[in-house]
Amino acid sequence: MCRYILVVLLTAVALSSAGRVQKENIQLPSDALMHRETVKGIFSNSYMAYKAYAWGHDSLLVNSRSYVDDHNGWGATIVDSMSTMWIMGLYTWFDEAVNHTATVNFNQSQTNDVTGLFETTIRYVGGLLSAYELSGKKRQILVDKAEEVTQQMAYAWIGNNAIPYGKVNFATRRPRIEDTSIAGAGTLTLEWSRLSLYTGNDTYRQLAEKAMQHLIHMPSDLPGMLPQMLNPSTGDATNNYVTWGANADSYFEYLIKYARLTNTNDDSYADAWLTAVNSSIETLARRSTVGNWLYIADYDSGNVLHVGSHLACFYGGNWILGEQLRHCSLRRFADGRDSSSGGKLTNNDNIVSMGLNLTDACWNTYASTATGIGPERFAYISSDGGYTSSSPPNADQTAFYNKRGFYITDARYLLRPEVLESNFYAWRATGDVKYWNNAISAVQSFQEYLRTSVAYTEIADVNNRASSRSDEAESFWFAETLKYLYLTFDDPQHISLDDYVFNTEAHPFMAPPATANYGSGSVFPVSD
Ligand SMILES: *[C@@H]1O[C@H](CO)[C@@H](O)[C@H](O)[C@H]1NC(C)=O
Ligand SMILES: *[C@@H]1O[C@H](CO)[C@@H](O)[C@H](O)[C@H]1NC(C)=O
Ligand SMILES: *[C@@H]1O[C@H](CO)[C@@H](O)[C@H](O)[C@H]1NC(C)=O
Ligand SMILES: *[C@@H]1O[C@H](CO)[C@@H](O)[C@H](O)[C@H]1NC(C)=O
Ligand SMILES: *[C@@H]1O[C@H](CO)[C@@H](O)[C@H](O)[C@H]1NC(C)=O
Repeated sequence: MCRYILVVLLTAVALSSAGRVQKENIQLPSDALMHRETVKGIFSNSYMAYKAYAWGHDSLLVNSRSYVDDHNGWGATIVDSMSTMWIMGLYTWFDEAVNHTATVNFNQSQTNDVTGLFETTIRYVGGLLSAYELSGKKRQILVDKAEEVTQQMAYAWIGNNAIPYGKVNFATRRPRIEDTSIAGAGTLTLEWSRLSLYTGNDTYRQLAEKAMQHLIHMPSDLPGMLPQMLNPSTGDATNNYVTWGANADSYFEYLIKYARLTNTNDDSYADAWLTAVNSSIETLARRSTVGNWLYIADYDSGNVLHVGSHLACFYGGNWILGEQLRHCSLRRFADGRDSSSGGKLTNNDNIVSMGLNLTDACWNTYASTATGIGPERFAYISSDGGYTSSSPPNADQTAFYNKRGFYITDARYLLRPEVLESNFYAWRATGDVKYWNNAISAVQSFQEYLRTSVAYTEIADVNNRASSRSDEAESFWFAETLKYLYLTFDDPQHISLDDYVFNTEAHPFMAPPATANYGSGSVFPVSD
């Protein structure tokens, strides 16, 4: 997959430019521009509706022609759209968004709600800092606003806790005392380390790393696969539920992405990622009895649950990325410190091909429905049965399973990106035209089944062509779903996976040259 060894022999200079995650010389089909313009048109249509009915508020309510402030009222859709607008060349809207954001006071919630660390970090801090980088590091106000909101979030750590509480009251500067999730505590490193880089205040990076290090060293039943929830004051797990889906997902995602973004010589991040993937392969990988589709099951107190979710479907792309990095880019590999070889772990399974298989199974949840769009949750049966902890499939679900190799347990589509995100990684890593065609098919389905006279919106039932339309367009439609689609149709050198690391909200950050040595710290200079 990579040419690392060869490149080393030839020239050290080539190290910073050779393709590693991406396949080299992918040829774009000749209709690429048309597909790109179609996606840009969907974005523009959606953003114009947001401007008309929801400007300055967090999210557009499509059917109501109104808005909802579900992210503290700081204009989440504006900030979340910035990096996509830059990438699509919508520079006037980008400037308008920067101008608006400059007027927002992030010191206080505009809604009297507590502020969630996870959503605020991935959407606002990630959106602001990625926009700062993409637009040439000239708009200092974007860094200032990211710091304004993060200064308040830093009150989520109290006493000697390594783990932050999940929510902070900005008015009292006190956290809400309740259990938090591993995703909540483990999805800060990319954004907070970038903030330290651009402000010179290293406290943000240290706080995020302290939380991540605590998680990495927590004991768990399945090595590396931490349960979802923990208590910040004791630092101990408070449930046994293991999943690559909700409340856990981006902790695993950030382990490998942080190793790449910092190019750190601290192996603990990439090692923890590999341990989690290895446990997943050993204990949680299941093939459906119909179709032989590969899934990673959930797990609770010794029981394997044969369930999947749209959220967890990021794992295909993450496994492809992680394995390519591990073997081609990370310094630990270059130094020969990684003793495992060739991507072969147990069962002779190659993590890249498993990532592709996972992506294909998630795409099958799209290809199998009446709308061509995949559901929020599903389940399946494998050689060890079909236990899910809830009711067994009814007659309709069984009939569907017997044709498709999964059955739907929550039929909504909430404009989520994960399946198309993994499809994007699969396309950039292989150039296999089937991933290109998947993206075209998704765009056609979106135009047909999500469109209203106002904009595009969520639907209640992906397996019903006449499904009712729900009201909200979440900001990740703008930040993630349409960006991954657009970039799938774009020149692979634009936001190359060899040069950028996406945060979990699809905001790209510039990564350092893959094997450069920046010394022992995690904060490094980034060249323009
Ligand atoms: C943004 O603000 C600058 C400075 O006030 C102004 O020159 C520019 O026209 C504004 N851009 C947009 C798109 O509103
Ligand atoms: C926000 O708080 C910071 C200090 O925490 C202060 O420098 C800044 O002026 C405040 N901004 C607003 C708009 O109140
Ligand atoms: C760095 O950030 C932390 C957290 O917001 C803050 O407490 C500290 O005062 C800052 N340090 C400097 C030198 O500004
Ligand atoms: C993978 O898991 C198996 C079983 O738990 C273990 O024996 C093996 O050492 C692990 N390999 C790696 C590379 O972690
Ligand atoms: C899994 O991936 C491998 C390698 O890409 C491929 O040969 C195989 O057909 C895939 N299996 C399934 C069930 O799709």
